[in-house]
Amino acid sequence: MSICVRSPASIANLGPGFDIMSLALEEPYDEVYMEVSRSGGDDYIRFTGDYQRYLPSDYRATTLYPVIEEFRRITGLDFRVRAIVRKGIKPASGLGSSGTDAAAVAYALNKLLNTDLDPRFLIRIAALGETAAAGVPHMDNVAASLLGGLIIINPVTGDFVKVEVPNNYWFVVVLAGSKASTGEMRRLLPSAIDMRDFKNNLAYASILVYSLITNNREMLSKALMGDSIVEPIRIKYYPHYGIVKETLLKAGAIGVALSGAGPSLFGVFDSEPPRDHINELLRKNGLRDYVLIITKPTNTGTKEVSCN
Ligand code: HSE
Repeated sequence: MSICVRSPASIANLGPGFDIMSLALEEPYDEVYMEVSRSGGDDYIRFTGDYQRYLPSDYRATTLYPVIEEFRRITGLDFRVRAIVRKGIKPASGLGSSGTDAAAVAYALNKLLNTDLDPRFLIRIAALGETAAAGVPHMDNVAASLLGGLIIINPVTGDFVKVEVPNNYWFVVVLAGSKASTGEMRRLLPSAIDMRDFKNNLAYASILVYSLITNNREMLSKALMGDSIVEPIRIKYYPHYGIVKETLLKAGAIGVALSGAGPSLFGVFDSEPPRDHINELLRKNGLRDYVLIITKPTNTGTKEVSCN
């Protein structure tokens, strides 16, 4: 029994929505070929593509492994997995690379083992994969990669909704710099916050969703750049933040924020972004070694594709 699935990258947080919001992107994406059998021996997991070198060689250290183990636990079946992951998403870049693979594997095993688990359950299982990458499970990236669209999720209860995103936005992602790890970038954050900041972020997260679907440019801009809790702490570790933000705003972005825990930043545009102009400005401002991705949101999450 085998299957091939494609799972999209995602942008978590979107400014004020730390751990509760994430948006799936048309590109980049990862593709996973997966086979299950009853033969003995170890699982076999291999990464291919340009980013293969960033991934652990021990399959037990990958984000796929906790997901596979959880399926063994809940089904009581002793199966073996053979998986090949074609990485299109750069690991540790802020595009939910680890969550994408965990989502792909959860989707694939759900099909191959005929477990028929509902999305809420699959999100919880896929989030276990994030433990391998971040030390603690977080559900935002995996939920968007699994289901597509803009996901708003309550990480305390697992309740979530999917908001279909209109087709008139472009997202520019600038992959630059590096981060210690998502786990490190989470450990920097306070365990308690001021009520004022709570109200600010709650208001802007709500405004963000409403203004995104009603095309309220002014409010979308304020909301995307309105986080007063998480981003102000993390950006101290990203020297490229100011240059990229200023460049994207100058090039016409409605708003700019860190993508997930960084180091990438994204800008939201309501007309086709001027690629050459953005590259020219980034270089003029001294940014080297970056990758510019121009993409769109997608309302399609993980899906089956033909294997070639
Ligand atoms: N919400 C998570 C964080 C996303 O900001 O730590 C990590 O990709």
